[in-house]
Amino acid sequence: MAKITLNGVQIDAPDGAPLVEVIKKSGVWISNLCYIDGLVPYAGCRTCLVEIEGARGLQLSCTARVADGMVVNTEPQHVKDARQQVLAIINANHSDRCLTCHRRVKCMPGDICLRDDVVTHRCVTCSKNYRCELQTTNELMDMGFDNVEPWAGEARSYYQSEQPDPDRANPWFEFDPQMCILCTRCVRACDEIRHTSAITLAGRGFPSRIAFGTGGRIDESDCDFCGACIDVCPTATLMEKPNKWIARTEDWASTTCNSCSVGCTISIGTRSGRAVIVKPDRANPVSLDQICVRGRFHYDALPDKQRLQRHLVRRGPAGSPQSSAHWDELVGYAAQQIKDVVAKHGAASVAVLGSPFATNEENYLAQKLARDVIGTPHVDFSSAAPNRAVAKALEAAFGTEALAADMLRIAASDIIICIADDLESSHNIAALRIKDAVAGQPAAPHAAQLLLVSHLEGELEAFAEPYGGVWLRTRPGAEAAAIDALAKGAAPAGLLRGDAAAAHAIVAAAKDEKKTVSIVYAPSGIDAAAAGNGARAAANLAIALRGDSAAESLHVLPTEANVNGARDMGADPEHAPGRAAAAAPGMSFDQMVDAAIAGTLKAMVIVGDNPLMLAPGRARVAQALAALDALVVIDSLLTDTAKAAHVVFADVPSYGKTGTYTNAERRVNRLHAALAALGDARPALLALTDLANAIGGASTWSYMHPDAVTDEIAANVAGYGIFPASRSAWGRARASEAASKSEPQTVAAAAPSAASGELLLTAGRTLFTSLEGAALGSPDADKLHREEAVELHPADAAALRVADGAEVTLVTAHGELALPCKISGRVAEGVAYVSSYYRAGAVMQLFDRSGAPVSVRVKVAAPV
Ligand code: SF4
Ligand code: SF4
Ligand code: SF4
Ligand code: SF4
Ligand code: FES
Repeated sequence: MAKITLNGVQIDAPDGAPLVEVIKKSGVWISNLCYIDGLVPYAGCRTCLVEIEGARGLQLSCTARVADGMVVNTEPQHVKDARQQVLAIINANHSDRCLTCHRRVKCMPGDICLRDDVVTHRCVTCSKNYRCELQTTNELMDMGFDNVEPWAGEARSYYQSEQPDPDRANPWFEFDPQMCILCTRCVRACDEIRHTSAITLAGRGFPSRIAFGTGGRIDESDCDFCGACIDVCPTATLMEKPNKWIARTEDWASTTCNSCSVGCTISIGTRSGRAVIVKPDRANPVSLDQICVRGRFHYDALPDKQRLQRHLVRRGPAGSPQSSAHWDELVGYAAQQIKDVVAKHGAASVAVLGSPFATNEENYLAQKLARDVIGTPHVDFSSAAPNRAVAKALEAAFGTEALAADMLRIAASDIIICIADDLESSHNIAALRIKDAVAGQPAAPHAAQLLLVSHLEGELEAFAEPYGGVWLRTRPGAEAAAIDALAKGAAPAGLLRGDAAAAHAIVAAAKDEKKTVSIVYAPSGIDAAAAGNGARAAANLAIALRGDSAAESLHVLPTEANVNGARDMGADPEHAPGRAAAAAPGMSFDQMVDAAIAGTLKAMVIVGDNPLMLAPGRARVAQALAALDALVVIDSLLTDTAKAAHVVFADVPSYGKTGTYTNAERRVNRLHAALAALGDARPALLALTDLANAIGGASTWSYMHPDAVTDEIAANVAGYGIFPASRSAWGRARASEAASKSEPQTVAAAAPSAASGELLLTAGRTLFTSLEGAALGSPDADKLHREEAVELHPADAAALRVADGAEVTLVTAHGELALPCKISGRVAEGVAYVSSYYRAGAVMQLFDRSGAPVSVRVKVAAPV
């Protein structure tokens, strides 16, 4: 630590730290329009000038480094004058008049202006008014009042050059280059923080411009709409489109993204109880100030009118309409239906589904309703099978599924082995941390090697071989065998591409205990056998590399947000809360489907799950739901599953809930309700509580607030005692546990194959399709319309004589699906790939109940 004197006050600061950051952290305001904390200074705006005693002339505080004894002054008049002069030059090329007008606080849009005729442009009508760093900088530097106007005679460059048109062609961003001050923060954020390089500073000298890609539209560039550039832009140049004109927030609430198991924490800005903007929230130290397009924009996937606002009941036979019902009537009717089934067929004829999208509190009460109130052991969720297979594999290898590996380790690793379909799409911020490790930043160099094992080509490929790593491309389902071979030092069979010798060399190097190693495994969310097999292979590799401490380097990332929380809370037929063995094991979801079709399962309560979208073998699931005497669904959307129900409790969306999620590494993240309930909708915890009391007797449960359930979880669920005593630890404390053993497992070698003349069909989570939009089959679930197709390799497309974009029909032994085709090198030859969320999970009807890749015939309507 160094001691420096800042404006006459002595403060401690880290020796060598950027002076501008120390000044800001001390509470002294300093303009710094081109600086991004933590990155190498660009030193372009020159607004951060300070006086450092002993130095010649004024110094840029962004390039100056703290040294013991330094005496720094930001306030002398000559220093302020200098900063005003450089800001005036920036203003000279900005549409700025309101910025420096002494009457600006009196002006409203449409007023007569002293200098123009009517105030129709600039700050008073700018979408960034009142939340603009350039505006604040002008105000705090007294630009209007000190009358700093070096463009005497109106000779301002801004008005002499033609300004580029804005780009409004995509659903999420607006780019208005006429507002740009060329600070290049966006260029550096995209390049150094996101490793994407979708933005450049094009041209030289006066015509310099910020450009996306080669100067075209944003959506034609490499941009993946993470919004990191928006967060750092100090002007209105880059802004979120959905809220550009309405984002004057009244309140902010910190919550957790519901779109994957990384569990990025986000802050939702609201106005009149509705979300208007999302920013990253730093509570989760893995995501910190970064999120992906889903976290930033999917709050806006559906208009309010498409959310459930009325409770529904269907009293007639299947196919008769659902009609709206009042709460008390609904609770009474649902409870009576369940009680009738129990009286007639016994409690074991009822099953309850929790959900990987529901909170821990909801999953906890769902299983409690089943086991303690109804008295049935049948609890699960519809996409549980792959996750259960993974959990069993990990339990067998390490004695626990709640591995100790902390995702903070990924960015600090020297060697990373990633096994995933396309991690960039499924778990974007985990992929970002791999990129951090491989590519580093100029301010924090790093050079990890990446060994990537995947059948799809995604963005991570560019971080493998170009940086001394390897991409092993396998056929879908063959990843586990390849990993197991690497663990055993054997030759991986059947690779489609990749240098096996180089992969072995990376594995050999990873055996060096001095190196930090991370194995990142994102199992299939559909194919249980492949998911379990992959987990065994990943465990074997971790054990081969790290022996008894293997579990600390193995990161397993489920597809959905709260899979681990659902399992920990006991939404599992084999486990009570805390993963204790269930007193009486119940049926898995797959067995429930069989039982419903056979007529032995008569009623189901579904809490936030959507089996008709998420479970493979959809026709069979539909048949099962239709066979039930009573189907009670709690959901915020009228999903296909809710449409099949006798009773639908209108729930609030996850961003309207209070509770917790447990992410991939069992970090327990907090959800604070940001949204007001719409119409009659009420949080699922209320529906569960009232239902339990109506079934079990009036005083069965007495939860008055979601925190009461959280407290009960803390008291009863092993690993969750981390709260409530340490509520400040949200996002930091983890419900993981130490491994008790490291035992290699047997990995099956067989990989699925297609019939002659057919392709192998697989599906997975894609980046842009929103969960909520998909659940309703909304035509705008993928607002960019990039993922609404089956992807085919160019060679297969040529053999099929199908043109890019043409309609094809996928035919398997289980069903048919017509959709456009997209010719893409992303898939391997012989493989067809569809987004698992496409059109409410339509591809699920093509798989059998196992979810394994199937042989598919591609029918082409009009061959070319
Ligand atoms: S970008 Fe900022 S400074 Fe420029 S007109 Fe808009 S609010 Fe004013
Ligand atoms: S949104 Fe993200 S990827 Fe796109 S330009 Fe901005 S920083 Fe780059
Ligand atoms: S777009 Fe924004 S962040 Fe990028 S250079 Fe212009 S003002 Fe700076
Ligand atoms: S990486 Fe996952 S948790 Fe993070 S913002 Fe994206 S979808 Fe949400
Ligand atoms: S912040 Fe120092 S030059 Fe821009």
